[in-house]
Amino acid sequence: MNVLLIGSGGREHALAWKLAQSPMLDRLFAAPGNPGIAEQAEIVALDPSSHEAIIDFCRAEAVELVVIGPEAPLVEGLGDALRAAGVKVFGPNRIPAQLEGSKGFTKDLCARHNIPTARYVRATSLETAREALADFDLPVVVKADGLAAGKGVIIAETAAAAQAALATMFEGGFGGAGTAVVIEEFLHGEEVSLFALTDGTKVVPFGSAQDHKRVGDGDTGPNTGGMGAYSPAPILTPELEARALREIVEPTVRAMAEAGTPYSGVLYAGLMLTSAGPSLIEYNARFGDPECQVLMSRFEGDLLALMLATADGTLGDAAAPRFSAEVALTVVMAARGYPGTPEKGGRIAGIEAAEALGAKVFHAGTALEGETLVASGGRVLAVTATGRGIAEARDKAYAAVDAIDFPSGFCRRDIGWREVARAG
Ligand code: AMP
Ligand code: GLY
Repeated sequence: MNVLLIGSGGREHALAWKLAQSPMLDRLFAAPGNPGIAEQAEIVALDPSSHEAIIDFCRAEAVELVVIGPEAPLVEGLGDALRAAGVKVFGPNRIPAQLEGSKGFTKDLCARHNIPTARYVRATSLETAREALADFDLPVVVKADGLAAGKGVIIAETAAAAQAALATMFEGGFGGAGTAVVIEEFLHGEEVSLFALTDGTKVVPFGSAQDHKRVGDGDTGPNTGGMGAYSPAPILTPELEARALREIVEPTVRAMAEAGTPYSGVLYAGLMLTSAGPSLIEYNARFGDPECQVLMSRFEGDLLALMLATADGTLGDAAAPRFSAEVALTVVMAARGYPGTPEKGGRIAGIEAAEALGAKVFHAGTALEGETLVASGGRVLAVTATGRGIAEARDKAYAAVDAIDFPSGFCRRDIGWREVARAG
């Protein structure tokens, strides 16, 4: 079977690497891809927002399944366009992708179906937003409604900071994402990511992970897309996972099906483990990045078969996903300046040496300048290793990081610290 993978980040490199291991795969194409993905896939110069061009390509190359990695094309309806053209898709249609695309959409769905989440108010004008603030204790969480590349959430410690965040959002500081906002109660607890595959009806758990969103060691500094992750996240015990599936994920999937807009693909639930149980912070309509890199390092089944079953609506007949009992840990190497303006063009060497130590180096923001690999984005590499425990996985990943020569890059040195401390 021929497959087209949409995206160009570390998540997509991990997906390409796993898809390439499927005995069902004939040709793998990737658009726009990156130099790492190019080792597994034929790179094609297609713009993910040109739906017609992608459909034409699928017809010309007999592509039967399109795997959509990032959220933007999902929210723009690439899935709908492909399905209408008779091409199978891994990833939800435009309306179900609103679970990620509109925070207000998700909060209202939770309210209607008694799904545990932080108490909230939606507002579409600065004035009503300001009034609503009075109903919340500090700190209070202010969120731009739409996609804001992980930057649309402000945790305000003071009323003045909350007012300022609202003003920025309504002045267009987050583009269209901030023309509506959600104000919500601050939840206390530890965050964990739970992944589930669903074909619209059947829900299959697909692993857990913990991300590290802040740029600096000790969880300091500004938020990023994620500086490192590990899987599994033992803090999400089997009991808590079952509860999160029962109280959060399954009612959501049911609600989307009942509304006539079934959700098909991977549903990523960002959870807060509060003293009252798991509470939904947010949904994503795709795999996490870098969580996907650790999930794929542990997944032992045929990814293509599972994605096809998801797309076909036959997940109920598929074998349950198998994961290695090992721990996987990934360290993101970013370009200096990230999450602000990253330095482009920094030379990268030593990937082979890192992989010779038993790690897998996924490319995120890389490009080739002639023969030289250079940085071309904020997050540049995801250096990933597995081990019998968290400490072994971490030591292997950092040994590989240290084998990489990327003078204009940096990484956190403490990925996995919570779990390392717990594991003793
Ligand atoms: P989101 O984009 O919704 O995941 O929010 C980004 C980050 O903000 C989350 O990963 C949390 O660390 C934090 N956050 C969001 N909502 C809340 C909340 N209600 N209480 C505490 N932290 C939150
Ligand atoms: N690593 C967080 C995300 O992918 O949204």
